[in-house]
Amino acid sequence: MCGIVAAVANRNIVPLLVQGLQRLEYRGYDSCGVAVHNGGLRRARSTARVAELLQQVSTEHLEGTTGIAHTRWATHGAPAVHNAHPHFSHGSGDEAEGRPGRIALVHNGIIENHEELRNRLKAKGYAFASQTDTEVIAHLVDSLYEGDLFEAVQSAIARLHGAYAIAVFCRDEPHRVVGARAGSPLVLGVGAEGSEHYLASDAMALAGVTDQIVYLEEGDLVDLQLGRYWVVDRQGDRADRPVRTVQAHSGAAELGPYRHYMQKEIFEQPRAIADTLDGIQAVVPELFEASGNHPAGEGAHHVFKQIESVLILACGTSYYSGCTAKYWLEGIAKVPTQVEIASEYRYRESVPNPHTLVVTISQSGETADTLAALRHAQSLGMRHTLTVCNVASSAMVRETRLAYLTRAGVEIGVASTKAFTTQLAGLFLLTLALAQAKGRLTESQEAAHLKAMRHLPAALSAVLALEPQIISWADDFAGKQNALFLGRGLHYPIALEGALKLKEITYIHAEAYAAGELKHGPLALVTSEMPVVTVAPHDALLEKLKSNMQEVRARGGVLYVLADADSRIESEDGIHVIRMPEHYGPLSPLLHVVPLQLLAYHTAVARGTDVDKPRNLAKSVTVE
Ligand code: AGP
Repeated sequence: MCGIVAAVANRNIVPLLVQGLQRLEYRGYDSCGVAVHNGGLRRARSTARVAELLQQVSTEHLEGTTGIAHTRWATHGAPAVHNAHPHFSHGSGDEAEGRPGRIALVHNGIIENHEELRNRLKAKGYAFASQTDTEVIAHLVDSLYEGDLFEAVQSAIARLHGAYAIAVFCRDEPHRVVGARAGSPLVLGVGAEGSEHYLASDAMALAGVTDQIVYLEEGDLVDLQLGRYWVVDRQGDRADRPVRTVQAHSGAAELGPYRHYMQKEIFEQPRAIADTLDGIQAVVPELFEASGNHPAGEGAHHVFKQIESVLILACGTSYYSGCTAKYWLEGIAKVPTQVEIASEYRYRESVPNPHTLVVTISQSGETADTLAALRHAQSLGMRHTLTVCNVASSAMVRETRLAYLTRAGVEIGVASTKAFTTQLAGLFLLTLALAQAKGRLTESQEAAHLKAMRHLPAALSAVLALEPQIISWADDFAGKQNALFLGRGLHYPIALEGALKLKEITYIHAEAYAAGELKHGPLALVTSEMPVVTVAPHDALLEKLKSNMQEVRARGGVLYVLADADSRIESEDGIHVIRMPEHYGPLSPLLHVVPLQLLAYHTAVARGTDVDKPRNLAKSVTVE
């Protein structure tokens, strides 16, 4: 999704800005650009990759000490150079067109009242050169400018409805950048010498530049000048935001022996699970005690004792980890659990229960719909909140009372893999903690679950060794247009996740069904051209699932079955079986999802798609 980098310095900051964009590339984008102050406003924009923008700035000798840069993921207006950021006020502000611009601006988010503002600005004589909502803000700041950029931005944002993080500079104030955020993340980077300062939508953009980060809060406005900065809150009062030392993640960007980040991240899962459990194992004795250092945060045990139900809010893959957790929370902890797609929950009328634990799940911790759903739940009086999240400094962690941090490390591939399995690990621990708080776990059950968790990294490594068999399945899938995924019980969400992975990176149309639903409609789709992936662990539903598989075979469908060693399903004509190394009881979803990740990955490689940056998608969805 869109990314922002900005800087005020006393050296040429173009290389710093473009490198910052390169660090944000993993989030997904379809155009990019950089603008600097150099006598007037100058910019370079491109619909190619950031590497080509780098070439362009060098060919065009673009240099300056104050500047802003952006990667755009199109919302309003097609991915085209004229829609790419930075935008200049007067739109046609390039010197070549004879109308020098005064304001340069980049924006993440969506301005909802852009139409109304556009009409007013047009009436004042502003000419628009793009279809974006962003250009409206540039003109608006220009129209309010009376010699002080900070004041102009402050007045402009008071007129905006919607979500934004912006960085702005002005032709008439060469050493100043003003930023503002509401609904989209923005951080301030404090330079090593204290003389130069930066803005970015994600601290990762500043890796290697500074580790001194200020997380701006909702409604904050920041003024960056050479050697000083200050922040004011939404009331206009000076705000002291703490400077935190944030470890840069630039090492995560190395591919090592892997061809793609997704492959690397799939293979990192044993380590990611071990790290996630490590953080928690260190406090396992306290996990089940009424007092002490609870891994979910202070007071967690008390909250877990009180709550009557759980409401899980999430999007995409994170939603599917929530769907899996529902089976654990109801089956093991006996706590009624509801799982909702965040973008649905936030807009529907619901019946709030103040004794519900609201759980958000998010890799990034910045997903706009999930954050809005959390805030909506809070506004309805639900104050017991917990997040399962991979980014400790994210808005989601800051805005919830309790948190289980997953330690997947930076996930770069747009298709989420290690974030999913570490979320499942975190959610299983939440289940155990709730079960214990409510007295629904015997000591021996607790010990057995913890033992199984500790063995997970080894079990995952054994599943990863199935890769050559999965590659042979992927060769069959590469030529298909459609695929069905079936699962039952705990593994129905795993079928959903498998289908999402396949469609996301291979562009093959894939649907997942609870296998019992097959004859209620989707069976009509089954022909010899429809591969049917079946997740078939040896659990209580296996015999039922076998009947569903017969229904597929009887219609000529070809089955690809992930069976456990003792599932008694044999490969034969029209049935391809891969055997999982061991049956893993309630934790089996963490293992069964891995071959599905590998199937999507190798099918995408065979089809030649852009695995890590699939078309139309972004890594972190910070707009609605
Ligand atoms: C998964 O492969 C996705 N690309 C996507 O569904 C993702 O899980 C979703 O956008 C939620 O993101 P989050 O976990 O960062 O909130």
